[in-house]
Amino acid sequence: MAIQRIGKDIVWLDKVDSTNLFAERYATDDYAHGVVVATTNQTHGRGQRGNQWESNPGDNLLFSIVLKPTFLLVQRQFLISKITALAIVELLSSYTSGLSIKWPNDIYVNSCKISGVLIENSFHSEYLDTTIVGIGINVNQSEFSDELPNPTSLYRETGKAYDLNTLLNQFCQVYQRYYNALQHNSIGEISRSYFEKLFRSDGYSSYTASGQTFRARIIGVRDTGELVLETDSGERKEFAFKEVAFVI
Ligand code: BTN
Repeated sequence: MAIQRIGKDIVWLDKVDSTNLFAERYATDDYAHGVVVATTNQTHGRGQRGNQWESNPGDNLLFSIVLKPTFLLVQRQFLISKITALAIVELLSSYTSGLSIKWPNDIYVNSCKISGVLIENSFHSEYLDTTIVGIGINVNQSEFSDELPNPTSLYRETGKAYDLNTLLNQFCQVYQRYYNALQHNSIGEISRSYFEKLFRSDGYSSYTASGQTFRARIIGVRDTGELVLETDSGERKEFAFKEVAFVI
């Protein structure tokens, strides 16, 4: 199978329901690795937990990358989340500071969310087949709906506007480097870098799970994605996505 550079083909759409949905039509194409579908206007942007992803038309970068990570075992699929979050942090770090990854893959500037990721996988026996990596980065939006808890954008952080096409091309270059590291099995290094950049990676903070609030510190994140916490009474607990929430 030919391996194409990520972002060699970028399909820019004026308007689309969701770039993830549009990118799914490439899932059956063995040669689609690296294709990027991008827009600044989504009518039904999809977020995590079945939420909508809101974005002012024209202001932000909304895109999906088609990957064929057929070398990656299903139980290691969270490594795609790790490299994606690391690449977004690296890109945005050229423009602003205070970036971190809120597990599993929200990107924060201090305590505000600047970017979200929605990854959708399909499998072939014990290996991944096609992965659609959907990324929304708030770039030039100045005002957000009051219903969003803690949004921010590059514009809100820096007072400047940015060219979306330039940012997307820069992102693709950074992402290719992280994807190469994954392919070359640099798993320890990827996991270490991800852990170092985690929101609240040091010290105790408050979390809620099963209706209970407790204080804990982050011990690590498994390649399968579970967050490993140690409570202030020394008990170790592992949580899958949606089983635990950060008290912000
Ligand atoms: C989240 O809830 O944090 C994830 C948001 C992911 C949004 C992006 S925007 C581009 C891509 N297309 C979608 O429909 N969703 C993702």
